[in-house]
This record gives sequence, structure tokens and C-alpha cells, in this order.
Amino acid sequence: MDWPRGLDGLSYGGDYNPEQWPEEVWDDDVLLMREAGVNIVSLGVFSWARLEPREGEYDFGWLETVLDKLHAGGIRVCLATPTASPPPWFTLAHPDALNVRPDGVRQVHGSRDTYDVTAPAYREASLRIAAALAERYAEHPALAMWHVHNEYGSMSHSPHAERAFRIWLEAKYETLDALNAAWWGSFWSQHYGDWDQILAPRATQYLANPAHELDFKRFTSDAMLDHYKEQRDLLREANPEVPVTTNFVFGQWVPVDQWKWAGELDLIAFDSYPSAPDERAEQQSAFHADLSRSWAGGGDWLLMEQAAASVHSKDGAIAKSPGRMARHSMIHISRGSKGAMFFQWRAGRGGAEQWHSALVPHAGKNTRMFREVVELGNALPGIAHTTAEPVEADVAILWSPESWWATSGAHLPAPVDYLENAAQIHRVLRERGVVADFASPEGDLSKYSTVIAPTTYVLSRAAAENLRWFTAGGGRLVASYLTGAVDEHCQVWLDGYLGGLTDLFGIRVTEHLPQPAGERRALWNFGAAERFCELVELRGAQCVTQYATGDLVEGQPAVTVNPFGEGEAWYVSCKLGDDAWDRLFEELELTGPGGPGLDVVDRGEWRFIVNHTEQEAQVGHVIVPAGSWAVDKQPR
Ligand code: GAL
Repeated sequence: MDWPRGLDGLSYGGDYNPEQWPEEVWDDDVLLMREAGVNIVSLGVFSWARLEPREGEYDFGWLETVLDKLHAGGIRVCLATPTASPPPWFTLAHPDALNVRPDGVRQVHGSRDTYDVTAPAYREASLRIAAALAERYAEHPALAMWHVHNEYGSMSHSPHAERAFRIWLEAKYETLDALNAAWWGSFWSQHYGDWDQILAPRATQYLANPAHELDFKRFTSDAMLDHYKEQRDLLREANPEVPVTTNFVFGQWVPVDQWKWAGELDLIAFDSYPSAPDERAEQQSAFHADLSRSWAGGGDWLLMEQAAASVHSKDGAIAKSPGRMARHSMIHISRGSKGAMFFQWRAGRGGAEQWHSALVPHAGKNTRMFREVVELGNALPGIAHTTAEPVEADVAILWSPESWWATSGAHLPAPVDYLENAAQIHRVLRERGVVADFASPEGDLSKYSTVIAPTTYVLSRAAAENLRWFTAGGGRLVASYLTGAVDEHCQVWLDGYLGGLTDLFGIRVTEHLPQPAGERRALWNFGAAERFCELVELRGAQCVTQYATGDLVEGQPAVTVNPFGEGEAWYVSCKLGDDAWDRLFEELELTGPGGPGLDVVDRGEWRFIVNHTEQEAQVGHVIVPAGSWAVDKQPR
């Protein structure tokens, strides 16, 4: 499918909210977009209250005018269904369609994302507004893509959700006996005698059941996907030529299993909001980009949103220095995005995001920001042809949303930061110049020579077999602590953990040894273990390095390697620091043309270089000024 429809080059633009502005601004917007090289905008993302001011009564006049003006200006449109923010009349008429927090508080409108995808009234209203838009605009010449909803993520613990959860559970387990067995129901008297006894995992007196919580997140991901699919099918039917997407976002609060969703989107779209002010923002951007490309099966995807002028950290927004917006955009484009889009086109005067940066700042076009926007927008058409070939990676990092969800439980032997562990592997590889893919634990691994499983805590039987098959066939598998600690029902794998793969790793893990925060156990020649290590018994594997200090572990294997079939399985029994991972990757000869502060990505005959450092960089014959980027022919 040609996407976004009618757009040949790279997409450049962002969320456009003309409904927040008087009509006089709209013509100016189109002129400025043209000046900036903007060729596509996401329109109407939160406009439900303006499109359907009263139930069943529509006002499409303004949208019509805007669509026509954009079309006349040669700007394509990614038209949103506005279902992420139901209007006040809806929520007041259907309070049961508002989401309920685990503590039972029903949220009210006044912000956004107050919806419960399992509420029949919300489902109906969502379909109605989507159908009304499809009926009017499916054939509009400006329409390039449908943007369903926005950043699916709101969980609800409402009675509707509970009813739908029970139906989902019954389809999955068929019998209560099977569910009780899977959830280890005899513990704390949690044996269910009737499906109706099962609740959403609401606030409880003490620890919740991890299997119950994991299933609820799986269910929520599926329920939101159903909501997406209903709209997608309707939009597709209205015009099969127009691709349909929704924008993924990243966060612990987002129960979306991207592997399951990916096949349902015509194009993977991602909103990248790094959360650290320093060079970790570049690392996170590359991490987001490689994940998005991997969800897209290695093919094209689209950076749907990023902030133009600032990075949002815990301490508030940090201004992006000159050139940083372009470099972040190039991180994404070099790693497979078919463009760079932003939240948002014009900075708002009011509302909760009035201080969010934009392509057109409050101060207007005569600003440093807008000049940078124009510069990038005018540079992109010149490099569109260099993005035709895919990014090829030889190394994959396993990405397991379920391991992320399951390790967020408070019942673990010690806190585990799954996201950081996955990001750490990616970060260290990136610093070594290696561009990595991500892969699903149950996905096709055959094209990779090395697969790294960071703390892949939940390992299903199918995933374990997949890893066995990959290694036996000649692959190199590297797994870190707690991998395969539990199965798909959060039940511990007995007799050595490791997903039952003790023969593959040639070891048994016999004990988990959490240690106080800040205490380190040294490894010979390999840095130190932080916070967590395991007692490992060799069963055929060789010891690569051992613990040099620490009660119980001193002299015991810390990192091991075992030949298996045509391949080999490495195991890292502790949380290592970046330097130790770097040392291990040195041993595994994982290196590439980039390096610290330097993103280098090769695609076909083209080499993309993004220099984040304050010094000029030379890569092969190409010199890239400090804080700048270049695309050139690869050296032969
Ligand atoms: C995104 C969202 C946008 C806007 C942006 C602000 O997550 O999709 O609507 O809120 O964050 O950073």
C-alpha cells in the first residue's frame, strides 16, 4: 500500500489543531507550512467536541474548510478519529463509560483520555463519529492516511472491563480449573468457583496475584486493539486505498503488546518523547526508532510525534540546543522512519499544553525555532532517495512487553528495571556503533547471528523452544539474569529456572541473591554486579568470569558460555554495568562504524551520520561538523 497516500518523499509536519484558532490564522498556517517544507499534518486528533457538539449533531464546516485549504496548498492530511477525548456531553450522559482506577475512583472529563474501551456506549459513539468522518472524507483528495484515536493506553477497572475480562478469560482457559491452576489459585484462598467472582485487579490489601495482573494487562491490550480494529475496518471499507494507523507511545502505564498490534496497522507510527535531558535523550530516540522499525518487521514506519524545542524530563522541559531537533529527526529517519513529525504545528495560547513547544512558536515565524524548522524541512526532499533500502541488522535484542509488565510487580525478590535493562543493551551496542533490531521472544530469529535476551523474565514454552532452535541452528544467544524465571502464567520454572533451558545454557541457576542497593560484587576482569546476582552451577558450560567478592558467590561463575548444536549460549547471572557489557561485547566482537555520540547507519549504498558531539567527526571520507548530520555514499 502506498502510504501516506500520495506522498512520495519523506513526511514532514505534525499535529495541527486549527479548531483552537480563529479562521484568519488558517491561511497563514498553510503559507507557513509551505515555507517550512511541511507536506503532511495530523488533523482533528482531539476535535470530537467540535465535530459533534451534541449527540448525533455534526459540525463539519470548519474541518471541510481546513481540508480544502490544506489541499489547495499541497499539504496532505493524516485525518484522525477523535476518540481519545470524548466530549463533555458524552461523558455526562454515560458516566459508566469513564475509566475507573484500581482504587475505584471513576475519572471525570476535564482532561483527556477518559474513556473505557469496554463500555458499550463508548464503543458505539466511537464508531458513530468514525463513520461520520469516513462518510464525508474517505474520498477527500487531501486524505493520505487515517490516524485512529491517539496513543492507546488508558486502563479501566470498571464493571464493564470486568465483564469483558471474564469473557476473555473464559475464551483463554475454557474451564475454571484451568484458570485456577494457571493462577496458582490455592494460594491465599484465591480459588474461583464461578467466573463472576473474578474482578479486575483493583487495589487490594497487600500484594496482588501476578498471574491475574499479567492476564489483565494482556486483556486490556486486546480490548484496546478491538476498539482500534472496529474503526480500522470501517475506515478501510470506506476507501481501501487509504492506509490506517494509530500512534504508539511508550510507558509503563501503556498495556499495549506492540508485537500483537503490529500486523493490524498499515504503518507503524510512534511518538518519541525521550525523558532525559542529556545524551540519554539521543540514546532513547535511537532505542525508540529501532523498536518501531522492528515492530514494522524491519520495514518503513513513521515518527508521528516528537517535541520540537524541548526534551521533557522529570525536572520539566529542557530546551533543545540549536541543531538538536534536526539530529533527533535524523536519528529516526536513518533508522527507518519515513519522515519526522511533531507535536505540534502551532504552539497553543491556552489549555494544558500551552507551554508545549511547536514548529511555530508563540513568537511566530521570526524565531530561531522556526528557522531551524524551515532548514530541516527544506533539506529532507534532498535525501528522500537515500531511504529506499532497509536498515539491516545482524544483532537482535529480545523485546518482551510481558516481561516488562510482570517485572513491575512489587513481589519480585528485588526491584528489576526491565526497560532499563533492555535499553542498556541497546545503549552499549549503539556506543559500539552497532545498530540492533528488536525481536519478539516467539518471533523469527533466523536472520540474526546474535540474539540478546535482557532479563526476559517471562518465557513461554514457545519462546523457550524458539531460543533452543535458534541456538541449535548456529545462533549465539546471550541472556541476562532472571531470564526464564517464570513461564507464561508467572509460575516459576523449576529445577534451575532459565525457561527449562538448563541444557541449552549448560548451567543451573540455584539461587537468586539480591543485595542492598549500592552494594557491588566484583567480577574478575568484568566490572561489578549491581543489586542482583545468582548462584550458578556449571553443568557443562565454561565459566567466562567469576565473582571475585561477595558472600556465597565469591569464586562462583558469573558469566558462562555453553556450546549447543551449531551455536552457543551465554549467560550473565547478574546486573552488569555498562562497562562490563561493553567488555562482553568486545569479546563477542560486536562492533560497527558508529561510536560514542555518533550515530552511523548504513542503508544500501548510503551511509547516514549524525554527530551529536561538540567536535567535528570524520567517518571514512565524510567530515561532519559538530552537532550536525550528513548522508553520503558508503565507502566501497
Ligand atoms: C503526546 C500526545 C500529544 C501531546 C504530546 C505532548 O503523548 O499524543 O497529544 O500531548 O504528547 O508531549
